[in-house]
Amino acid sequence: MVFGFVVKPVMLVWGGSFLLLLLLAQILIGMRKIRFKGRTHQKVHKWAAWALLAFSLFHAFMGIVYALHLTIG
Ligand code: HEM
Repeated sequence: MVFGFVVKPVMLVWGGSFLLLLLLAQILIGMRKIRFKGRTHQKVHKWAAWALLAFSLFHAFMGIVYALHLTIG
């Protein structure tokens, strides 16, 4: 529980699936199977990488809270 919010397994499943999709998109953008015009391409790849990092950390944190039955706040 994080400030009264209970982490349920289904949330982690959706979170993990979203992360996998984002990673797949990132790989396809990196391999230029999905293209954006000019400098936009690099920018999208860069911001998607930061989004992946931020969301992964949040997902990992919530996963640990759930697995170890932690209560925060
Ligand atoms: C097969 C997969 C990938 C390929 C072929 C690839 C390719 C590239 C290329 C060619 C660049 C140079 C900049 C550009 O032309 O856009 C780049 C930059 C970068 N890539 Fe990837 N990438 C892949 C996957 C990933 C993944 C999975 C991540 C992170 C989760 C990532 C994060 C970055 C970052 C942070 C940069 C620097 C961007 C910048 O400085 O503007 N890449 N990648």
